[in-house]
Amino acid sequence: MTGPEPDRLQPGEVQLWRAALTAPPDELGDLTECVSPTERERASRFYAATDRDRYVAGRARLRRLLAGYLRADPAELPLAIGPHGKPYLADPAAGWLAFNVAHSRDLIVYAVARGHDIGVDVEWVRPDLDVDGLTRRFFTAAERRWLERLPTERRLAAFVALWTRKEAVLKGLGLGLTLPPQQVEALPGRPARVVPGVEATVAPVRWSVAAFAAGTGYRAAVAVASPALRLPRTAAPLPY
Ligand SMILES: CC(C)(COP(=O)(O)OP(=O)(O)OC[C@H]1O[C@@H](n2cnc3c(N)ncnc32)[C@H](O)[C@@H]1OP(=O)(O)O)[C@@H](O)C(=O)NCCC(=O)NCCS
Repeated sequence: MTGPEPDRLQPGEVQLWRAALTAPPDELGDLTECVSPTERERASRFYAATDRDRYVAGRARLRRLLAGYLRADPAELPLAIGPHGKPYLADPAAGWLAFNVAHSRDLIVYAVARGHDIGVDVEWVRPDLDVDGLTRRFFTAAERRWLERLPTERRLAAFVALWTRKEAVLKGLGLGLTLPPQQVEALPGRPARVVPGVEATVAPVRWSVAAFAAGTGYRAAVAVASPALRLPRTAAPLPY
């Protein structure tokens, strides 16, 4: 195998995929065939047609991707939603296939792993972010020190990069922002951790986290619940 293939995943392997969130009109019909009746109903409730089509395209591509690994029919996959919104496969036979999704602007990324919880985040680097205010509010003391040591002109991109690492862990946990972001420390160059003593309900797992290339102008990161995994540094274009 020369690169990742959307239907093969070795134990311990992590694969990353990216796609445009906007599908050309002639593809939308086929994509709509891949989503479930519940998703079609959710799609019908979007006010704007562009939002509806983006939702359908994102869901249909996710279903095609997972169906490839599982050798299943995309529309038949039992996708369910966890208590804080994280999608998962509600079928014990498919429990080995962990996945997560993130989107920003017109880009959607998918992360899949075999046997480990996984989270992913992607963010468009907006130039108007209140970096200092957000850092004070959401980052740990060690993260704040790391950012403050950087030259001012590098702080915006570094802030977004650090944020994506943190959000990838929060999404890997399945808690999202229901866990205060300052309770996860996700400094570059070391496994991320839930800050000890603050959240007794979260397993004290160390997370492998890596930034990866998703597209120009974006920062992205993936987090996997195992401390020493080799993670891909780029997302491959999804071939459908
Ligand atoms: C998860 C969360 C951090 C996403 O933030 P975001 O930057 O706006 O969005 P992203 O592009 O990174 O991720 C969105 C995707 O993450 C996935 N997701 C949603 N909730 C998730 C969670 N708790 N954990 C992991 N992944 C989650 C979904 O696939 C979603 O895509 P979809 O809406 O098209 O299905 C944020 O929505 C959150 O904290 N939600 C939890 C709050 C809650 O309890 N909501 C109730 C929902 S039932």
